[in-house]
Amino acid sequence: MRNLTEDKITEVVLQQIRTDNPRLRQVMTSLVRHLHNFVREVELTEEEWSYSIQFLTRVGHLCDQDRQEFILLSDTLGLSILVDAINHRKPAGATESTILGPFYRAGAPALELGATLAVKEEGEPVVVLGRVTDPDGKPISNALLDIWQASSEGLYDVQDPNRSEGDLRGKFLTNADGEYWFRTIKPSSYPIPHDGPVGDMLTALGRHPYRPAHIHFIISAEGYETIVTHIFVKGDPYLDSDAVFAVKDSLVADFVFNNSAEEAKKWGVRVPFYTVNFNFGLTPKFKPADG
Ligand code: BEZ
Ligand code: FE
Repeated sequence: MRNLTEDKITEVVLQQIRTDNPRLRQVMTSLVRHLHNFVREVELTEEEWSYSIQFLTRVGHLCDQDRQEFILLSDTLGLSILVDAINHRKPAGATESTILGPFYRAGAPALELGATLAVKEEGEPVVVLGRVTDPDGKPISNALLDIWQASSEGLYDVQDPNRSEGDLRGKFLTNADGEYWFRTIKPSSYPIPHDGPVGDMLTALGRHPYRPAHIHFIISAEGYETIVTHIFVKGDPYLDSDAVFAVKDSLVADFVFNNSAEEAKKWGVRVPFYTVNFNFGLTPKFKPADG
């Protein structure tokens, strides 16, 4: 292991991978090859190498239970949505997944169907309703919808000193017909946290930090694959430039304007309000054949 030239270094590093774990071997071999080839391709300068180390150090310093700059880096480089796509190849009829994002919190309040997510009802009222079904369109009862969203100012409860913990979050169970319905307020588009190294990277690349308005869902039911997804607001100006590349056509929903006082009364909302009808399709869990 001496006199390792540009041409020899990669093979020598690969020979040092001595693990018996075949997956670790595969992943590390590919990683080393790609990293070395990247450096060769761009002929990385020492200044660039040093800047990269400092950049990643800043990313690491911005990681704790409230902020995860590494996930943000992965999201903004399109890595998170690529991993999601590879791991959730969906059959027709199943709802497409998208990224989780950093604002999910376990322990959202369990609510009755029809209840509102919004403790502070500031914003335009929305009624969201639909069904959860299997690939044959059969309703799935007792499916759990774990929901969270930003406010009309584009802030999650954890970012907004004017909202209590758990505001704009809730969990609902579908009824015997697989139906769900709840009230909320219309979310707005918002910038991802951009006061750190990821924000600097976006600025340097001429990119904006905005995400189109959306509502997050995790949907689970016994015997079915859990899906992590969003519903996006049709017409949002950022649908074609989401900072984290997470928009899919099938997840864009019409927020239909409604000015009927009679219907508003039925749902328990103010006029005017919006209705969103969105059905979710789950796929059965893969069961390995017996024996
Ligand atoms: C979100 O949708 O909550 C989100 C996703 C990725 C980065 C930042 C926020
Ligand atoms: Fe979000």
